[in-house]
Amino acid sequence: MKNDKAKILAMAGKGGTGKTTISALLIKYLVENGITPVMAVDADANANLNELLGLNVEVTLGEIRDAMKTETPFGMTKSDYMEMRINQAIIEATGFDLLVMGQPEGPGCYCMANTILAQVMESLARNYRYLLVDNEAGMEHLSRLNLRKIQTLFVVSDPSSRGVMTAARIADLTRNLGVDVKQKVLIVNRVPPELPAALKEQVESAVEKTDLIFGGYIPASDAVFQCEVQQKSLLTLPPDTDVCKITTEIFDRFLKN
Ligand SMILES: Nc1ncnc2c1ncn2[C@@H]1O[C@H](COP(=O)(O)OP(=O)(O)OP(=O)(O)O)[C@@H](O)[C@H]1O
Ligand SMILES: [Mg+2]
Repeated sequence: MKNDKAKILAMAGKGGTGKTTISALLIKYLVENGITPVMAVDADANANLNELLGLNVEVTLGEIRDAMKTETPFGMTKSDYMEMRINQAIIEATGFDLLVMGQPEGPGCYCMANTILAQVMESLARNYRYLLVDNEAGMEHLSRLNLRKIQTLFVVSDPSSRGVMTAARIADLTRNLGVDVKQKVLIVNRVPPELPAALKEQVESAVEKTDLIFGGYIPASDAVFQCEVQQKSLLTLPPDTDVCKITTEIFDRFLKN
């Protein structure tokens, strides 16, 4: 896959709907199916994807953007310095790597740092088959990373009518981001065992009115809850866990070429 840019997968959806959880399950799916190498980018200012993957973060891209301003060694270009530091910041795991965006803390303008970051990310992407971006509720990072083409945007909703309406709104909003999104897939997460007919109708109506494709319903999972409270990586979930079987079925449909 060298020299062929990675396909980009990204998460969107309102706060707390399960974007990071589904990102971790997606990484698990890609790794277990040998659809690798994968670069995971935690683009949430309050980074926590690493915890769900059982990884420690040493340095974030935000800290590197700060360092570029003051610590670039004499005789080195800012661009070379950023590239070197970003390469050091890559957390390597089996089948995938992780980079954490974080946020620069110092005052002033980060235009130059952000431009260099986007360039370095673009060249890094050539080394991976997939690049997965876990977002916070807003979508600013997608434009910051200069991602012009997204293969699949997973729009995650909770099982509520307002959640589904928000997902529909997000699907419309992405049209103005200047990003070319090939498919937008609606996932309704944490659904109860008995799905209310009214919710199903709202989901069908959202799919009809927007360019969202229906992806599936993911159940509220005790196994996910147990991982959360015991601070265990979701990568340790056995493949026959309900939530893994369902996400595998969803990802198979949208990602297997
Ligand atoms: N299918 C599920 N079953 C059980 N718990 C879940 C499920 N999906 C997510 N959760 C739990 O819901 C909470 C929020 O999930 P998560 O952090 O993935 O959401 P998020 O959309 O990434 O949130 P944020 O917008 O803050 O980034 C977490 O405690 C997570 O463990
Ligand atoms: Mg999150």
